[in-house]
Amino acid sequence: MLPSSNISLQPYHSFASQEEASYFSKISDKQEIVAIVKWSKEKQLPILVIGSGTNILFTKNFEGLIAKIELMGVKKIEETASEVILEVGAGENWHHFVSYCVYKGWGGIENLSLIPGTVGASPIQNIGAYGVEVQECIKSIEAYDTLSENWVHLNNADCAFGYRTSIFKQNPNRFIIASVKFLLNKQPQLKTDYGVIREVLHDKNIKNPSLEDISNAIIQIRSQKLPDPKVLGNAGSFFKNPTILFNQYELLKEKFPNLIAYPISDKAYKVAAGWLLEACGWKGIRNGNVGCYEKQSLVIVSYGIVSGKEVYDFSETIIQSIKSKFDILLEREVTVI
Ligand code: EPU
Repeated sequence: MLPSSNISLQPYHSFASQEEASYFSKISDKQEIVAIVKWSKEKQLPILVIGSGTNILFTKNFEGLIAKIELMGVKKIEETASEVILEVGAGENWHHFVSYCVYKGWGGIENLSLIPGTVGASPIQNIGAYGVEVQECIKSIEAYDTLSENWVHLNNADCAFGYRTSIFKQNPNRFIIASVKFLLNKQPQLKTDYGVIREVLHDKNIKNPSLEDISNAIIQIRSQKLPDPKVLGNAGSFFKNPTILFNQYELLKEKFPNLIAYPISDKAYKVAAGWLLEACGWKGIRNGNVGCYEKQSLVIVSYGIVSGKEVYDFSETIIQSIKSKFDILLEREVTVI
């Protein structure tokens, strides 16, 4: 099917701002990927692939083709007494997939409950929450390499996963993910180290939690702390937690004894960006229809109609204020177009 032209992107991303795409296409069959790549090369237009648009900020109209991936299906590839391998279409809703696995008793991704977005988007920024990153359960990925115009199967190691990054993030627009193979555990080791998870389980008097108990605890924590994109436009954590060197950590800790940071090696610390924002007074601050969410400052929200540019400018003011107070340069976690 030929792409449609001059489409408003408002329904297709969670900030719901009104920028447009010159062309737009929904992809529900693998062959359509090959066709749109050919089409866009002929027209010499860039392609931007989106899932449910929950981690993206459009600051201007997109002069190219937006391809919304709607490849569906969850297929069992292999099952042993202890493990199961599933192949999942990139367009499947992430949380529905997590809930399905929890229901089946297949463990590994339950801590990633209620993260918005699609399965195909999950490896791109290696989504993570409450002590788990999706890379821990990914076996391989099938993607179309737009450079060589071939289908490729990337194993976990090929994906170069890191904190909120991967080969897909590092080579934007090169690979179009069609499906992800997950390896899940039928006798899962539950990860309950995070203080907040333990607190919820304790409050509910749950001593031997099941997968469902963990998933429910995470759903409760996330719904209390994070805004529902259907109510307030947002793209989850707007900034990454920055890494600083030990010397800078020592200096900052002396000046700001409450600083929240944890070591990631013997030379570097990861700092809680939410704490930095709160310490600069950003929590709950609103400028027109854009603001820092009152319960979690790392999330930028829109309270009504905004342009992507307004959100971007607001985030730039935050970055500058953090730079001047702490000499730390925050990086955006959302994809800015
Ligand atoms: N904090 C503050 N003020 C705030 C927010 C946080 O002081 O306004 C402090 C908290 O008290 C805590 C520390 O910062 O001590 C870390 O906060 P939190 O546990 O809420 O996690 P986070 O580092 O802010 C990361 C992910 C989230 C993920 C949570 C839970 C990033 C950029 N974000 O947030 O991911 O859900 O951990 O594991 O790594 C997302 O990507 O959209 C997302 C929500």
